[in-house]
Amino acid sequence: MSECSAAPKEPPRQWRPEPDAALPAGDTTELNRTRLALAANQTLLHQFVQHTPAAVAMFDTQMRCLQASDRWLTDYGLAGRNIVGLSCHEMFPGLPDRWKEVYHHVLAGAIEQCERDPIPRGDGSVEWVQWEARPWHKPDGGIGGLILFTQFITERIHIEEALRLSQDKFRSAMQHSPIGMAVVGPDGRWLEVNPALCKIVGYSRGELLVTNFQSITHPDDREAGLHSVRQMLDRQIENYQVEKRYLHKAGHVIWVQLNVSLAWNPDGTPRHFVAQIQNITERKRAEEQRKKLEEQLRKAQKMEALGTLAGGTAHEFNNILGIIMGYSDLAKMEVGEGHRIGRHLEEVLKASQRAKEIVQQILTFTRQQKDQRKLMLLHPIVADAVKLVGATLPEKVEIVTDIAPGASSILGNPTQIHQVLLNLCTNAWHAMKNGAGLIRITQRTVTLDETAWALHPALHAGPYERLSIEDNGKGMDAATLARIFEPFFTTKGPGKGTGLGLAVVHGILQAHDGAVVVQSQPGQGTTFHLYFPAELGAPVIPVRTGPASMPAGAGQHILLVDDEAALAQAAVLSLERLGYRATGVHSAAEALTVFHQQPGGIDLVITDLTMPGMNGTDLAEALHQVRPELPIIMASGFGGLRTAHFARGPGRRTVLQKPFTTEVLACAVHQLLSEAPRANDPEA
Ligand SMILES: Nc1ncnc2c1ncn2[C@@H]1O[C@H](COP(=O)(O)OP(=O)(O)OP(=O)(O)O)[C@@H](O)[C@H]1O
Ligand SMILES: [Mg+2]
Repeated sequence: MSECSAAPKEPPRQWRPEPDAALPAGDTTELNRTRLALAANQTLLHQFVQHTPAAVAMFDTQMRCLQASDRWLTDYGLAGRNIVGLSCHEMFPGLPDRWKEVYHHVLAGAIEQCERDPIPRGDGSVEWVQWEARPWHKPDGGIGGLILFTQFITERIHIEEALRLSQDKFRSAMQHSPIGMAVVGPDGRWLEVNPALCKIVGYSRGELLVTNFQSITHPDDREAGLHSVRQMLDRQIENYQVEKRYLHKAGHVIWVQLNVSLAWNPDGTPRHFVAQIQNITERKRAEEQRKKLEEQLRKAQKMEALGTLAGGTAHEFNNILGIIMGYSDLAKMEVGEGHRIGRHLEEVLKASQRAKEIVQQILTFTRQQKDQRKLMLLHPIVADAVKLVGATLPEKVEIVTDIAPGASSILGNPTQIHQVLLNLCTNAWHAMKNGAGLIRITQRTVTLDETAWALHPALHAGPYERLSIEDNGKGMDAATLARIFEPFFTTKGPGKGTGLGLAVVHGILQAHDGAVVVQSQPGQGTTFHLYFPAELGAPVIPVRTGPASMPAGAGQHILLVDDEAALAQAAVLSLERLGYRATGVHSAAEALTVFHQQPGGIDLVITDLTMPGMNGTDLAEALHQVRPELPIIMASGFGGLRTAHFARGPGRRTVLQKPFTTEVLACAVHQLLSEAPRANDPEA
């Protein structure tokens, strides 16, 4: 395309040779001198034009060439020819009409010019020319012809074109690249960013261009980034690749793979960095999950191996212990009562008994006792365990429970779950500073998704009952955490812990197709999450916490107090069927009357806690005034400080969670009646 224009007409410049005022007319010597000077001037001008490095040519009004620079002649293929006096048409026979028009205008006084004018060549190529044509004036002021300045700019045009094309390509590549791309100044400011980068970091191009790359770099990665940049500026490295973190505008972390190189100016100063940025957050996440899974698998394999080893050893030990105990018993019988050796053997038997208990625990860790599971609800067991633990732990340990309503059934072994809670609460207590602190037991129904394995490899997508036992004790470091489920791993002093508590918990949860997930940090307390697969829609079966066979009574007299007549009656019947003699009454006052009629004739009292008039604890107090050793069972709804307080009191006493089964009742009654009165009982 040509960019030609006509410049505004200039007022004709008059060519007036300086008149020689001192030259007298008719003096031929002076005339000759003047002619000579004129000729010298013309020669000077001619040489000046001929050798000027620009392409210049001068024409008269007939477009006959008066003079041309060598450069002009060369440019137009006329070098070596004498063209003075030749017309434009003779020099360029096929001169296009538009040129004739240009000359016409110029000879009329206009100045015409063109920044880039394409001139077709005979070979089909195009030559680009920049030109200017302006009139020249005779001494009388009239137009004497025109002067043509031309410059071939084809090469420059090609370079400009190539540059534009490459810029277009770069811009298009930036625009459409699926990978983030950026040009960053030596000072770190974003000079150009593409849409892919904007998408990765959540900022618009405008937002990025007013900041630098450090502003979106994760604080922990800033120093490393600066170090690499410095190395490039010092020419120690040409480029660098790194995986680093950016902060998304929304606040979350994004992992990127960054490739950076540095472009230099010809003078050796840094021009800009070119960066490619790829979002690898998903890959990173997958890698982390894989690592975690590998770690968990390694742990699972270790536990498996330990289980096999411990199981094998335990079985052997059981047999050996059987022999030791059998022969010790035999020897004891043979030496007879009261013999010194008999007392030694008694110690052997006691130690063997303890060894047997440990072997039992190891077997729990290894054995999968799935067959003993039943459909049950968790929370009654929790309530039961809390009572038991509450009674055994010091008062400085507070236990709070938070059970969400609407929990599902699980397939569980109540005795084992009882044991799990006992072990965990005992550990929590041991972890507490000065033995004082808080244990929070929470039950929630949770639905795990397909990432459940990330919590624990034994967990799957689906509903679970999650029991969390949280303490505010000293917590654990990573090294301890990694080993807590190993049998015999303990941090407690010699004789203080066997290191079997959590191994047993692990074994039990495994037998329940569940898992234990621990969260702990030194000084931050510990939480054990127990996951039991929930049996959705399964009928809830009442819980049994006692052993399968119900211990029977031997006619002992039991006084039962409950303001609910039907309940009292049912309990009386159950007790009678178990082999006891039972009297049911409906208030504390009635109970006291019966008791005072025959204070020694009552072997055990079962009383409701909440009753109109005198409540259960006050009744117990009154009964113990008369007979401190009298065993008392307090029946109540869930938990509460009063029952916990009662359970901790002296004498034979326990708390039963209502509603209870006959089995639970049978066990509790049997246990209290068979227990020897405690040492602190005045009558014991
Ligand atoms: N709640 C907790 N807080 C801090 N550390 C704990 C907690 N529970 C367990 N641990 C650590 O885990 C170790 C192993 O616990 P585990 O119950 O298996 O054995 P133990 O309590 O040492 O002995 P045992 O239970 O056989 O009497 C403990 O010694 C203790 O270091
Ligand atoms: Mg323990």
